[in-house]
Amino acid sequence: MSLIISQNLYRVYNATAVPVNALNGVNLKIEEGEFTAIVGPSGSGKTTLLNILGGLDSPSGGTLEIAGNDISKLNGNQLIDFRLKNIGFVFQAYNLIPVLSARENVEFIMLLQGWEKKEREDRAVQLLEEVGLKERIHNKPSELSGGQQQRVAVARALASRPRFVLADEPTANLDSNSTNNLLDIMSMLNKEEKMTFIFSTHDQRVIDRARRVITLEDGQIKSDIIK
Ligand SMILES: Nc1ncnc2c1ncn2[C@@H]1O[C@H](COP(=O)(O)OP(=O)(O)O)[C@@H](O)[C@H]1O
Ligand SMILES: [Mg+2]
Repeated sequence: MSLIISQNLYRVYNATAVPVNALNGVNLKIEEGEFTAIVGPSGSGKTTLLNILGGLDSPSGGTLEIAGNDISKLNGNQLIDFRLKNIGFVFQAYNLIPVLSARENVEFIMLLQGWEKKEREDRAVQLLEEVGLKERIHNKPSELSGGQQQRVAVARALASRPRFVLADEPTANLDSNSTNNLLDIMSMLNKEEKMTFIFSTHDQRVIDRARRVITLEDGQIKSDIIK
């Protein structure tokens, strides 16, 4: 069974006088274990697609099945529960909780999932070390740089061992050293914990490390290359 099956996905934004067709019939199948980049010019629909694949936004048309669940059939609470159990998000707004330290932010999802305290703490510290924030685990988001906050958000998304991770331009604010570190962590979790990754990017270094590259243009898939 495929992890994600979308058929003829549409998304029309009606906020303005002229509606925007952000997705125009996207047919997509993602298998468990993929390490896939979604690329395309700014405005091509990458963020819209990731939001919909994560159940953060609903399509205007078409169907979406994730892990055998028809997403449109879940009610609000079921959707929240589904996201919590299955999906890790690394989005551009990092949504860190200001009053919590880096470690507590990373532990937060695991806390909601009911992990034991010791396991939670160990896993959070391990992930923060892997993203290079060993010396910052007790700092609050306001005491961290933008790039450091982004790495906390990455550690938080990965720590709870989600079935798949959606990352919207995860390396956009990172220098090349941090970009390589992040890619190493993602590859390691992909290989060793069989975590599926779907990430949008503009960054050629990130595209080079993807095993499948899906190109969007005007809300449609223009090419889909498995290396
Ligand atoms: N909330 C919104 N309201 C209206 N239009 C939007 C909204 N979000 C995105 N769009 C439009 O939808 C199109 C796709 O945007 P987006 O998915 O953000 O593309 P990308 O992530 O590839 O840059 C663009 O034309 C953008 O302006
Ligand atoms: Mg975007």
